[in-house]
Amino acid sequence: MADVVIRATRNGSYHVKGKVILQDSAGNEIPTKEEMWLCRCGQSQNKPFCDSSHSKVKFVSIVKKDEVKLDS
Ligand code: FES
Repeated sequence: MADVVIRATRNGSYHVKGKVILQDSAGNEIPTKEEMWLCRCGQSQNKPFCDSSHSKVKFVSIVKKDEVKLDS
């Protein structure tokens, strides 16, 4: 099993479990915890973390394994 699991939650954030290095766009390390939720809707006021704004904007995205194509 992988050391890190990232789950696209139903109509919400990415749930990250495991020890990761998270960097900003300049490559600076952002402090993290071993369990966190990253914004997937783009509306968080605390990016890259989820602040539950996805509920207010009624973000809709359900990721299903059979519909995902691996980027080449
Ligand atoms: S996914 Fe929760 S605020 Fe964007």
